[in-house]
Amino acid sequence: MKWNLIYLDRTTSTNDVARLLPCLSVVVAKEQTKGRGRYARTWVSEQDNLFFSVVLKDADVKTPLLSFVVAISVAESLALFDAKIKWPNDILINTQKVAGILLERCDDKVIVGVGINTTHMPKGDFLYPVGCLDGMVTNEILLNNILNNLSKNIEIFENMGFEKIKEKWLKFAVGLGEKIVVKLPKDTYEGLFENMTNEGAIQLKLKDLSYKYITVGDVFLLNEGKK
Ligand code: BTN
Repeated sequence: MKWNLIYLDRTTSTNDVARLLPCLSVVVAKEQTKGRGRYARTWVSEQDNLFFSVVLKDADVKTPLLSFVVAISVAESLALFDAKIKWPNDILINTQKVAGILLERCDDKVIVGVGINTTHMPKGDFLYPVGCLDGMVTNEILLNNILNNLSKNIEIFENMGFEKIKEKWLKFAVGLGEKIVVKLPKDTYEGLFENMTNEGAIQLKLKDLSYKYITVGDVFLLNEGKK
């Protein structure tokens, strides 16, 4: 894929800028003043961590599954650090979240925003334990690797379908085959994370042996934050 890179020193959110641009644009900023995460949370965006957004064509029903395509692309690029993925697309190193992915739809496009704590540990109170890469990889090299992996994985997704993406995703997944807690806006479920469905939902086996399929929520590992 031929990406068109646009570099900014400072912006509100790279996702805001990306909305105005054509497909295959990639907006990279050194700093964001209004970085946002999933569920309208703030994404702490201190200078020199990596913030970028990629503009892709909206693939209708397949669009939510793109989040898994992006997650494996980031995790593959951080394989040296033994990166893992926590459902659906949080990137963890030593069970600490170092990167997050936010998909937003806009007209016939989907904006894929990625934030990675490459240099600084974000300050604040977080839902999950957070980590950072302490500058062990440059933003430029990491971005380049992610975009290469993304091109490759989008091609796999288009040619071979979600099955292959799911197979790759499961290899990076944390909590699989273990007891996890999933918090939804109103309810909390605890159960065995048995599998991910072909629609990207968590298949959770509850205490009464019934199944719950979850498409939106926050996953907590029982050993979260501990190495
Ligand atoms: C999350 O885990 O909640 C998703 C975080 C996504 C953050 C990135 S940083 C680049 C892009 N611009 C934003 O405002 N958000 C995404």
